[in-house]
Amino acid sequence: MILDGKAVSEKRLEILKEKIEESRLYPRLATIIVGEDPGSKLYVRMKHRACERVGIGSVGIELPEDASTERVLETVTRLNNDPEIDGILVQLPLPSGVDTTRVINAVAPGKDVDGFHPCNLGRLLAGTPVFAPCTPQGIMTILDEYKIPIAGKRAVVVGRSIDVGRPMAALLLNADATVTICHSKTRNLEDEMRNADILVSAIGKLKFVGTDMIKAGATVIDVGINYDEQGKLHGDVDFEAVRDRAGAITPVPGGVGPMTIATLMENTFLAAKLRTCGTVR
Ligand code: GUN
Repeated sequence: MILDGKAVSEKRLEILKEKIEESRLYPRLATIIVGEDPGSKLYVRMKHRACERVGIGSVGIELPEDASTERVLETVTRLNNDPEIDGILVQLPLPSGVDTTRVINAVAPGKDVDGFHPCNLGRLLAGTPVFAPCTPQGIMTILDEYKIPIAGKRAVVVGRSIDVGRPMAALLLNADATVTICHSKTRNLEDEMRNADILVSAIGKLKFVGTDMIKAGATVIDVGINYDEQGKLHGDVDFEAVRDRAGAITPVPGGVGPMTIATLMENTFLAAKLRTCGTVR
């Protein structure tokens, strides 16, 4: 079974658009981009386009590549205090001259639609999430849409970043999976991976995951974004080799990627509801 993230994201965006209309709220997202990275600029443009589609207002703030940490922090503080803004997204990675941790920690937790603030990551780990990071939350939505059972299953997450690996493990644990987190120092990585009923790969190596690393019938979630010499996008998984052995698999492109943006829209609507009504529903 191919897990069509593009189709799920389209469906979720349509539902969200209706919910926003019914709510009579006008949620607003502010994005901050520092520097000129073409990939980051493309992602931010896609986020603004998604906002427009579902009825979320958006403002984009562009700072120069050589902006200081203080300047980025001032921008974040201004948006924290702006009553017109519900969600703040600082596009990562930031240039090396900017202290990423200080910037992430400066975003007001109630406007942290990326879910990267330690307060939101802590809530997630405590089993009482408010804003969960968009990529892993989007993966949970795909698993839910395709009714893939999680409780009691062995889930293996390869990668321990704050945007994917760690929150992914917490979300799967909250859904009652037995979770293993693997990383660059893991011994016998392939043995761990072969144990997985649900394998989430956020490794960042083109075609790293082959058939010999997959249990027959496993659900394989590919978070990799890797470009080949021709500039073509691939995941971590050798899709053509693995698709027949896996029970279910996300393609790249068209799998996890579209879900990240759809979830950002859902988180922004949630932020607006929490700010205006103080309630989650
Ligand atoms: N850069 C790559 N993915 C993401 C994301 O989900 N959020 C932000 N803010 N930056 C990113």
